[in-house]
Amino acid sequence: MAEILKAADALDAALRLLRRGELVAIPTETVYGLAGDATSGTAVARIFDAKGRPRFNPLIAHVSDMDMADRVGLVDPAARRLAEAFWPGPLTLVVALRPDAGIHPLVTAGLDSVALRMPRGFGRELVSRLERPLAAPSANRSGRISGTTAEAVQADIGQRIAMIVDGGATPVGLESTIVKVEDGRLRLLRAGGIASDEIEAAAGMPLLRRENTAAPADVEAPGMLASHYAPDAAVRLDAVEVHAGEALLAFGQARADGAERAAAMLNLSPRGDLREAAANLFSYLRRLDASGADVIAVEPIPAAGLGEAINDRLARAAAPRDNFGPRTGFRNR
Ligand code: TXA
Ligand code: MG
Repeated sequence: MAEILKAADALDAALRLLRRGELVAIPTETVYGLAGDATSGTAVARIFDAKGRPRFNPLIAHVSDMDMADRVGLVDPAARRLAEAFWPGPLTLVVALRPDAGIHPLVTAGLDSVALRMPRGFGRELVSRLERPLAAPSANRSGRISGTTAEAVQADIGQRIAMIVDGGATPVGLESTIVKVEDGRLRLLRAGGIASDEIEAAAGMPLLRRENTAAPADVEAPGMLASHYAPDAAVRLDAVEVHAGEALLAFGQARADGAERAAAMLNLSPRGDLREAAANLFSYLRRLDASGADVIAVEPIPAAGLGEAINDRLARAAAPRDNFGPRTGFRNR
């Protein structure tokens, strides 16, 4: 298992490992990241191996300041405006890759664009001390629920990495919102920790959207494969009644019929607050999964604001899973 160090004591030990091309799981404000030196082919290859992630799926390069972002990508005025509004924070900008970026081509899966994000807190401090961008996908095995605590990361991939930095539960709880900036226009590639309407307000223009697709060949943010965030249990959305033996993921005050029959129940936010629900989503899915129920029934969750990203993750958790390789421990297929 990985060694777990508290964030306050971990900076030097994490730097030592990263400088040797090894991986460290780190807290960010969104979810835990599995970090490696983005300029090292060895480190980046280790990230793909530890996650079991297909190499066509590019990684986010985490930067500590605007100068570092400008050395890696071509941050045009539209992108800069969003960076100024939301960085450091849960926004990832996909921009053109600079030919002399210095990051390993595996990071971008050979694309001519790069995903840039400036995280808050420990992650930013670490990048700043390393003086190189960190490649960091969410610290979970590919296709599984993202880790929002050091314990969840340990349980999922602890056997494959040397060290986990424990910064407590991540405050946002959903991954960053990904926006692609192209010819001055903005496209939403992944709903996330900053609501789309906030981004539109800051940008002064609409976010273009695309159809979701399950076909890897034309996936634009390849992490957006249909099945993702999958617990072992099956997931049933928009439940208005609970069947015997199901676990219930509740939201707000009104309960689904038969809730008293639920084998286990957790309420994402009894007061109906979407920010609180986002922060609880992944850890509650894990806990209900651990209850051993075959099905997790999920009450309807409003689509506004952060509800867009919450519903996106739930839809992927509920999606048919046959676009993924073999997995162990399935109770339902
Ligand atoms: O909050 C987050 O974004 C977390 C923390 C650790 O920073 N990271 C994260 O990474 O969620 P990951 O690898 O799980 O998701 C990154 C997504 C993937 O869907 C990937 O396909 C997409 O970003 N992506 C990366 N580079 C891209 C590019 N050049 N063009 C389009 N999509 C890209
Ligand atoms: Mg992920």
